[in-house]
Amino acid sequence: MWSVQDQRLSARSAFISDSMEKIGTTLTQHIWQEQKTHPQSRGSLSELLYEIALVCKIISREVNKAGIAEIYGLTGEVNVQGEEVQKLDEFTQNIFVNILGHCGHLCALASEEEEGIVNLSKEKELGDYVMLFDPLDGSSNIDANVSVGTIFSIYKRVTKKGPGTMEDLMQAGNKQVAAGYVIYGSSTMFVYSTGNGVYGFTLDPTIGEFLLTHENITMPDKVKNYSTNERDYHSWPEGIRKYIDEIKKEGKVSARYIGSLVADIHRTLLYGGVFLYPSTEKNPNGKLRLLYEANIMAFLIEQAGGRASNGQKNILEIEPSELHQRVPLYIGNKEEVKKIEDFLH
Ligand code: AHG
Ligand code: MN
Ligand code: MN
Repeated sequence: MWSVQDQRLSARSAFISDSMEKIGTTLTQHIWQEQKTHPQSRGSLSELLYEIALVCKIISREVNKAGIAEIYGLTGEVNVQGEEVQKLDEFTQNIFVNILGHCGHLCALASEEEEGIVNLSKEKELGDYVMLFDPLDGSSNIDANVSVGTIFSIYKRVTKKGPGTMEDLMQAGNKQVAAGYVIYGSSTMFVYSTGNGVYGFTLDPTIGEFLLTHENITMPDKVKNYSTNERDYHSWPEGIRKYIDEIKKEGKVSARYIGSLVADIHRTLLYGGVFLYPSTEKNPNGKLRLLYEANIMAFLIEQAGGRASNGQKNILEIEPSELHQRVPLYIGNKEEVKKIEDFLH
């Protein structure tokens, strides 16, 4: 005969084991499992990814209460891109530099929001990796409560010691050891790859954990949407106008454009389709930045079976020449991107 105490304990352990099944894999566990596939790894990249996830949880909290916390709106400053700096841009930039700068796993950091290399020379401990990031992507959408995101790209340093240099930061996208984004939308999702598939984790704010919800994401074959800002139609290359004209004439592919790269790519990755930010007469290299926007999306899309091109070549093969260089971006279903490249030739 079980005592009341025994019955309570067995009910409790049944509940815990049941809820543990429901929790599934956390981001931390997944990163650790990925690390175990590299026996020689000392865990530095894993710890760097944990720190990034921590920063993005803090950003998620701030984005989700920005209106209350009065950090919506403009700071009145203009950044190196000549764009108005949103308060949240500044907040996210600072928190990344403060937490990642001290984590001891980086020897250099570069951001959309800073002209040059973020100076880590006063750090007591420098690491073997460099990170380039867009702390808040789509920030012009913040005040309209439209999804925004964070984008990050990680490389192994190529110089031997001391503070990282431009040589460490300006490597081709196919040298990335890890890349990902966080989308702050109806839920907060962490999407990343270390070259072994793309995995999506949804934040459960009640326990502060990112939980695996999208295992080994693979792009659907069907081209569901095309995504581009048609404002520039008349100044696109003729091949792009012809491509979009053909899509519209067939009338089978829906137009979807949010204006936040992270949100537009997240939808393209999950639903299938193409995203285009072409060159224009005014901006022959388009608007998007190679090192902390295009390269990351290209890495992820390729891992999911898609393709990313600047119209001539694979984005990941471009050897960077400057930190904030822009690049035309055609990205999504592999066959569709190849079709766009054909239209351009
Ligand atoms: P950011 O907010 O980091 O400057 O990035 C904005 C980018 C990108 O998120 C988006 O795809 C693109 O700007 C939208 O540009 P248009 O407004 O010209 O369409
Ligand atoms: Mn951006
Ligand atoms: Mn940005």
